[in-house]
Amino acid sequence: MIGIIILSIILFFIIFLTAYYFVSFAKSLFSTKVPYVWSFQRQLDIMKDLNLQEWKKIVDLWCGDGKALRFFEKEFNLKWTWYDINSFAILYGKLLNKIKKSKNNIYKKDFTKIKNLDDFDYIYVYLFPKFMEKIEDWVFENKWKNTIIISNSFQFKKHKPFKILKNKIYLYK
Ligand SMILES: C[S@@+](CC[C@H](N)C(=O)[O-])C[C@H]1O[C@@H](n2cnc3c(N)ncnc32)[C@H](O)[C@@H]1O
Repeated sequence: MIGIIILSIILFFIIFLTAYYFVSFAKSLFSTKVPYVWSFQRQLDIMKDLNLQEWKKIVDLWCGDGKALRFFEKEFNLKWTWYDINSFAILYGKLLNKIKKSKNNIYKKDFTKIKNLDDFDYIYVYLFPKFMEKIEDWVFENKWKNTIIISNSFQFKKHKPFKILKNKIYLYK
């Protein structure tokens, strides 16, 4: 009997979490047209060669569950705080922050409402080309002049990268 109760509780949580994942995914995809996917480990491994300066500030447009940001924190001691609008990604990201003892936070907020882009030394993007195109003018016009943009897998349309790592990671100034 106890076994059946425990099994039912576990099953309930699995169904609840799966439903929560799909509803959050659909909601944020519907409102932003940007899917919640995360940087792959093999892409992060290439970025170990980036030689970024320690203790600088980084923002990820947009962060998902913060996987890339935790990598930058671990590898280069970069500081970050950032936003996503996918509830599941945020909840999962906060849990991973706790498990991995990351001191940073993820907030549920629409990034386009934040105006202080010039506050960051590095900007990270992992977005499909059509979204890169959408944010290109805004990012280059609002970033600080020395900010370096690190783009995973995809290139901006109007700007040329000053460095390319393994045909995968593009750096812009
Ligand atoms: C490709 S994922 C980001 C993955 C993350 N950069 C990484 O590398 O692990 C894109 C995320 O952007 C979020 N997003 C899209 N538009 C947004 C907006 N206007 N404000 C905040 N987050 C947004 C989506 O919810 C999605 O989780």
